[in-house]
Amino acid sequence: MPAHQRVRDPSPNCPICPRLVDFRNNARASWPDWHNAPVASFGPETARLLIVGLAPGLKGANRTGRPFTGDYAGDLLYSTLLKFGFAKGEFLARPDDSLELIDCRITNAVRCVPPENKPTPAEISACRPFLINTLETMPALRAILTLGKISHDSVLRALGVRLAAHPFVHGARHNIGPLAVFDSYHCSRYNTNTGVLTTQMFEDVFSAIRQDIA
Ligand code: URA
Repeated sequence: MPAHQRVRDPSPNCPICPRLVDFRNNARASWPDWHNAPVASFGPETARLLIVGLAPGLKGANRTGRPFTGDYAGDLLYSTLLKFGFAKGEFLARPDDSLELIDCRITNAVRCVPPENKPTPAEISACRPFLINTLETMPALRAILTLGKISHDSVLRALGVRLAAHPFVHGARHNIGPLAVFDSYHCSRYNTNTGVLTTQMFEDVFSAIRQDIA
């Protein structure tokens, strides 16, 4: 097995972040039928678009094992992907639905569910090697959509770029070498309920991405 495949994803019992290990062990005790492990990226490695979320939601990806599946954030994300041709099939918020991603892959800046959806800076840094490996194992990668500032900052650090040169701004497009990095506010329930992110704003970002990935 090539070296990059050995380190590409965290193991189900990844021991790197003690706080997240404790949280995972408590979740395993409370909900033994749930995934309760690092959540792997979803979608083909050959994709030109990578979407980077924050971290699995406790009752969403941490329960179902698929990014953005089972919590509110996924409803807007997957309906938009279907609308813009980056997905096909039916999204039923469960990993055995018929949804398939097209030319698109989804991962998270942090692979394990953090308490209160808030990973610490140390946890974000500790998980970055897995993000770097995700980037390195996508040979056709052209565009990255970062969902929120934590995702944006981690992606830029993974690409070795100074954050001051490319601050997070909703709707921005950053040219970074051969890649276009697009920023959007996170499609969380909080952001959509408070009007920070509207469906139109989210779709405008995807329209811009579609201009790059025609
Ligand atoms: N689910 C994920 O997988 N990631 C997020 O950022 C939010 C929900």
